[in-house]
Amino acid sequence: MIRYQNSAEGIRPDQLEGFFEGWPSPPSPDTHIAILRGSYRVVLAVDDEIDSVVGFISAVSDGVLAAYIPLLEVLPSYRRRGIGRELVTRMQEELGDLYMVDLVCDEAMESFYASLGMKPAHAMTVRRYDRQSGITPESE
Ligand SMILES: CC(C)(COP(=O)(O)OP(=O)(O)OC[C@H]1O[C@@H](n2cnc3c(N)ncnc32)[C@H](O)[C@@H]1OP(=O)(O)O)[C@@H](O)C(=O)NCCC(=O)NCCS
Repeated sequence: MIRYQNSAEGIRPDQLEGFFEGWPSPPSPDTHIAILRGSYRVVLAVDDEIDSVVGFISAVSDGVLAAYIPLLEVLPSYRRRGIGRELVTRMQEELGDLYMVDLVCDEAMESFYASLGMKPAHAMTVRRYDRQSGITPESE
């Protein structure tokens, strides 16, 4: 049974193993906690049977007009059973008062987000791959 929560309060690094699949330099579970704590809103999917987070979505925001959703991931063995859709839907509810909610995705994901009411748009990005694991006290 998957449970959803809107806070990272009390989440431990050992509950966050396995995320950032395919990233050459992934953030550590400790850094993942810092990402969740520094976000404007988060929604976590938790499997209490294994005491682990199995999916998460985060949003950053000015709290007035705009929000950006940088991260959405469901652990591979939990995919294709509606958890990703539920995370996005719950985040949309969290951000429902804001004028603009944006994210960047591969073209292949467009139909997934379109089915959740979002529209395609162009985006411009910068990626500093030497910083992919996140800014930590050690990297400063
Ligand atoms: C995208 C992701 C969060 C979806 O999670 P999920 O729990 O499997 O999602 P749901 O079960 O609610 O919905 C599955 C739908 O996601 C879409 N989808 C998932 N992965 C996809 C991919 N690689 N390409 C295209 N569509 C994809 C499909 O529409 C799929 O529907 P289908 O099963 O009918 O084909 C998950 O695949 C994931 O973590 N991927 C790696 C990280 C990632 O790509 N994040 C999104 C960044 S924009």
